[in-house]
Amino acid sequence: MNFKTIDQADLAGKRALVRVDFNVPMEAGRVTDDTRLRAAVPTIEKLRAGGAKVILLAHFDRPKGKVVPSMSLKPIVEPLSQVLGVPVAFAEDCVGPAARTAVNALAPGDVLLLENVRFHPGEEANDRAFADALAANGDLYVNDAFSASHRAHASTVGLARRLPAYAGEQMRRELEALDAALGHPERPVMGIVGGSKVSTKLDLLKHLVTKLDKLAIGGGMANTFLYAQGHDVGASYCEKDLAETARDVIRLAGQNNCKLFLPLDIVVAEKIAPGAPARIRDVGSIDDDERILDAGPETVERLCRAMANSKTLVWNGPLGVFEMKPFDKGTVEAAQYAAKLVKAGKLVAVAGGGDTVAALNAAGVVEDFTFVSTAGGAFLEWMEGKTLPGVAALSQ
Ligand code: 3PG
Repeated sequence: MNFKTIDQADLAGKRALVRVDFNVPMEAGRVTDDTRLRAAVPTIEKLRAGGAKVILLAHFDRPKGKVVPSMSLKPIVEPLSQVLGVPVAFAEDCVGPAARTAVNALAPGDVLLLENVRFHPGEEANDRAFADALAANGDLYVNDAFSASHRAHASTVGLARRLPAYAGEQMRRELEALDAALGHPERPVMGIVGGSKVSTKLDLLKHLVTKLDKLAIGGGMANTFLYAQGHDVGASYCEKDLAETARDVIRLAGQNNCKLFLPLDIVVAEKIAPGAPARIRDVGSIDDDERILDAGPETVERLCRAMANSKTLVWNGPLGVFEMKPFDKGTVEAAQYAAKLVKAGKLVAVAGGGDTVAALNAAGVVEDFTFVSTAGGAFLEWMEGKTLPGVAALSQ
């Protein structure tokens, strides 16, 4: 991986334009999960310690090139200032006079957040004039937003081509962890892929079976595989039109010596509701009105054994409806077992994408995994073997 880190940058008195991902969950103008804010702290602290003026660029939601007041980054200022322990200034625009005035007012070590870059159509278009306007406020560029680097936008790609470009601490940690999990893993390497839809993870599954020694498929998407193998899935969520595709994945796994783990037993209920009466069944023996909502105990035990015989684990997606007890049990038990192996120094476990962080949070193991990515779509694209434009731009 040939990118420069901020340790290699001359920072004193420089204006550092830092792309961060502050696309955080928000309700009624309040941040409900500050994980992504905390993830940016090491980079900001390092830049401040080096005497740089820290100018943060970020997007929030998808305003599509227009000013949408409910998508302002202003509500981020206070919680960010709290996690940093220093005041954070704010500019009402990321380019033009408002940005220039705020940048000119900075002293070394100060922190400024600029308004949502996606309020300008030039951001998503990676427009030259817009990227030039952003670049006018910086002497160097730091990309610390791995989770937005699957987008070829002005603030992820355009700036890297205009200013000396460096990877931030969170970016570096993400890239190192993903390299350890899929680039140069210690073998055997195992994957767990869950979540509801095969349709959104087809590229992922097809790529993973060529890279991994073992792959466990769980969650709603396992139903499609069970159906493809001729098992009855009752009233379960199932993408029946993808049965042939599922059989392709099974064939491809065989050709690549990737051992597939599909459920052996399942937890079923008639309703998806908290506390709904749950039954354990063997795969295939299910009533017409029953739905598969979690992996069964035998399935989880076999997964744990497979993890114990692996050196590396990469995890994306829950094994069941983890948001609802008792259907969280399979995910929680498997995640806790993985965490135990990590703590014993026997496994490198990397997780990320979509619901995964929430599922691992529910299991209380986020701190125990080797690395949990803050990325959703970007993590998936990386796992699919795709080049992320924002990462590629750093290594040019
Ligand atoms: C994310 O939340 O995954 C990133 O911030 C990217 O957001 P986007 O999908 O709107 O580009």
